Amino acid sequence: MVVETKQVTIVNHPLVQAHLAKIRDVNTQSPQFRMHCLELGRFLIYEALAGLTTREIKIETPVGKAKGIVLTDYIILAPVLRAGLVLAEEAQKILPQAKVYHVGLKRNEKTLEAVSYYSNLPQIAPIDCRVFILDPMLATGGSALAACELFYNLKVKEINLISIVCAPEGIAKIHAKFPQIKIVTASVDKCLNDVGYIVPGLGDCGDRLFAT
Ligand code: PRP
Ligand code: URA
Repeated sequence: MVVETKQVTIVNHPLVQAHLAKIRDVNTQSPQFRMHCLELGRFLIYEALAGLTTREIKIETPVGKAKGIVLTDYIILAPVLRAGLVLAEEAQKILPQAKVYHVGLKRNEKTLEAVSYYSNLPQIAPIDCRVFILDPMLATGGSALAACELFYNLKVKEINLISIVCAPEGIAKIHAKFPQIKIVTASVDKCLNDVGYIVPGLGDCGDRLFAT
């Protein structure tokens, strides 16, 4: 179900791939597109959280004693606006205790460079902090790299990236600067086209999510 390369995990679960086929389809309208992104996103988030740190505890059940675990990481979810909001919605259901720091980045459509328009991060982060950057599209990698840099400068313990679709160019850009960053995705597509869209990809994720 899961194909691991060095730092990239492709979730090949049939449900994930069936949702992906729906969101790739040009005939899928915004309400369904959004619903399939939410469903698919949940699987990617579960996979990305598989390495969380836990502590063993003792539990009394109604009929005896059992061992259990509690989660011990300080977790930051960092949705990249706008499209990352769809992943944040699911991630917050799974981890209601997580801190959420929004990162506002918009690609300049001519230069393809990410332009920052909002960030309100903490001055310092706890030492054991794990960050999950949420951005459905990793294309040139400019936006995700800018988000990673923000958290790297905070000296967090670990940065992860969750993207629905990645281009090889974007993965290479992230790993050239931060080889330790783990990426969880549903697909590594073929390439970028000459206007920086992922091929075959799914088009403009933000526009399709928000019907703009
Ligand atoms: C899209 C997407 C990513 C970025 C990926 O956002 O959601 O954030 O492009 O491209 P990159 O890897 O080349 O940087 P966009 O800038 O279109 O903003 P939006 O989500 O508000 O539509
Ligand atoms: N942003 C998108 O929404 N889609 C792409 O293919 C590339 C960047």
